[in-house]
Amino acid sequence: MNTSRQVRKVAWLSSSLAALALMVANGPVQADRPEGKAGVDWGNPAGQECVDCHMTENPGLYWEWNHSQHGQNGVNCLDCHEAKEGEIDAFTHEGALISIVVTPKDCSKCHTTEFEEMDGSHHSKAGDILASLDNLMGEVVGGPAAVNAGCRQCHGGTLEFITEGKDKGRPLPGSWPNTGIGRLNPDGSKGSCTACHGRHRFSREQARTPDTCGKCHVGPDHPQIEVYNESKHGIIYRAKIDEMNLDSDKWIAGVDYSAAPTCATCHMSAGVNQPKTHNVGERISWTLRPPISTKMNLVKLENGNEFDVPEGKEIPKVGDEAKGSKVVEVLTWKDRRAKMESICFGCHATSVIEGHYKQSPGSISGSATSGGA
Ligand code: HEC
Ligand code: HEC
Ligand code: HEC
Ligand code: HEC
Ligand code: HEC
Ligand code: HEC
Ligand code: HEC
Ligand code: HEC
Repeated sequence: MNTSRQVRKVAWLSSSLAALALMVANGPVQADRPEGKAGVDWGNPAGQECVDCHMTENPGLYWEWNHSQHGQNGVNCLDCHEAKEGEIDAFTHEGALISIVVTPKDCSKCHTTEFEEMDGSHHSKAGDILASLDNLMGEVVGGPAAVNAGCRQCHGGTLEFITEGKDKGRPLPGSWPNTGIGRLNPDGSKGSCTACHGRHRFSREQARTPDTCGKCHVGPDHPQIEVYNESKHGIIYRAKIDEMNLDSDKWIAGVDYSAAPTCATCHMSAGVNQPKTHNVGERISWTLRPPISTKMNLVKLENGNEFDVPEGKEIPKVGDEAKGSKVVEVLTWKDRRAKMESICFGCHATSVIEGHYKQSPGSISGSATSGGA
């Protein structure tokens, strides 16, 4: 955190040129490149047939794919939809073994970092409610249809497949389409990257908009989008959307845009001295869910899992055994808050930020009592 403080002090007190110079000195925040090489690890020649036929079968789907970074970099249908013999979701289609479902694990062939970050986060665990009491109540009160529409479209459901006959390997209607954030996939991975990256464009630009998150973070229990829309941040975002530079490569808050932050800005995207992350919990220091809000420390394990430890409870140390694995990183609630604040510093000075945290111990967008942004 030392360098972060230094950068903060100097950069915010002097000009943005100094900020830029410091960024270069610290190494600019680079967009991660996918694993592998075009023409070697992707661009399966057999995939050209899929493209040619689907170009006329589903021109809209083809158009979206062709205009995506995937289409432009030669990642084709087969690179994502290819399946292996024996997989429960595999079926033969035009001579190739494919699956309709493309899981986070499938994407991880080329995007390991995003997969791992999301896999540890609360997002990928959102399907766990299916086994919880809340869900049982939903099921009893509203029936399965209500749970499907009411819970699974946001939290994610369990995908099921037809196991015999000519439709073997196809999703069981009713369990799919589902792109919930914690969907339980047949390969054991959790979640769905399409929850935020609409197919087949899979764009960053779209994922950075607040509406992407507002699909789920909406309604009386979690009114983040409503609060955001009525906040100064939300109002300015909509008024100045053409200045948001949403398609920029690095999209560093305060450098590539300054009009207003979106949900992604504060919870995922890069700041001047803060790397981007697909773990939306990393910058969260409070939980507002229990009747009395608590500060939360984050413990990350070697096996990719992580868990929160409320303030006051004993925090394991790096190297300790915990939950069947080994602790590799501990972020105290202060570290998590410092990460969030370092994003604010791209556009604000200390007093606004600290004042804000004092005024609303919860969240900028999340707490209904928040009078601020
Ligand atoms: C909660 C919404 C959300 C989910 C779920 C999500 N992403 Fe993203 N993704 C984003 C946002 C927002 C960005 C843009 C971050 C930024 O501003 O640089 C992004 C950017 C990316 C990028 C571009 C990275 C770069 O270096 O520019 C890749 C690749 C990516 N996501 C892959 C994935 C994969 C793979 C998954 C599933 C494992 C996934 N995403 C799930 C929101 C999401
Ligand atoms: C000769 C034309 C043709 C070729 C080649 C072809 N497809 Fe298809 N594909 C279709 C048609 C037509 C459908 C719609 C069939 C249906 O509705 O059941 C379809 C359906 C699909 C589906 C959805 C299945 C469903 O039940 O909704 C996927 C996924 C798919 N194709 C992927 C691929 C991939 C990957 C390849 C390359 C290995 C490929 N296709 C090659 C014509 C083709
Ligand atoms: C970057 C990976 C990726 C590529 C490349 C890709 N797809 Fe998909 N496709 C997906 C994902 C993700 C889904 C959503 C499935 C799910 O729920 O997991 C999907 C869904 C589909 C579906 C069923 C849903 C629908 O909207 O009808 C069809 C058909 C399909 N893809 C065909 C294709 C064809 C044809 C191509 C090549 C032109 C292609 N895909 C390229 C990832 C990909
Ligand atoms: C519109 C999307 C949406 C629907 C529909 C929805 N949820 Fe949620 N749910 C969320 C979001 C977003 C959160 C996270 C809220 C936060 O962190 O402020 C959440 C949080 C929760 C939590 C707390 C999770 C935890 O780990 O503490 C539970 C439990 C829950 N939901 C159960 C349900 C049940 C049961 C249903 C169906 C009756 C349901 N939800 C329907 C979006 C939804
Ligand atoms: C076979 C390799 C491969 C697979 C599988 C793959 N991608 Fe990609 N992805 C790429 C390449 C290559 C790029 C272009 C990166 C670049 O230009 O640096 C890319 C770029 C992206 C971007 C950035 C797009 C933008 O607008 O800037 C996102 C988001 C993304 N992929 C998401 C996904 C998701 C989600 C999946 C799974 C459904 C997936 N990818 C599967 C290779 C792959
Ligand atoms: C498809 C639904 C869905 C989408 C889209 C979605 N979320 Fe969530 N989000 C959830 C659910 C459900 C939870 C609660 C998970 C749990 O704790 O079980 C959650 C939890 C969170 C949390 C709390 C994490 C923690 O560790 O406590 C944050 C922050 C968050 N989401 C931010 C975002 C942002 C930012 C976006 C958009 C870039 C986004 N979400 C998109 C459904 C969604
Ligand atoms: C991309 C730039 C940007 C980022 C990042 C950003 N803000 Fe803002 N914020 C603004 C702008 C622009 C305004 C509107 C200023 C005004 O007219 O009062 C604003 C307004 C506010 C206000 C209301 C101030 C007032 O006088 O009413 C608060 C509080 C605030 N922001 C807190 C935060 C916090 C806390 C963070 C980090 C978690 C943050 N902001 C991140 C640009 C940003
Ligand atoms: C200006 C920055 C900023 C913006 C914009 C923003 N948030 Fe937040 N959000 C925060 C801060 C700060 C917190 C509280 C962090 C903490 O726990 O220390 C928070 C908390 C949350 C929480 C956790 C609430 C809980 O129950 O613990 C969720 C979920 C969330 N935000 C989602 C969103 C979504 C979705 C959007 C867009 C509609 C959004 N946020 C926009 C800064 C922001």
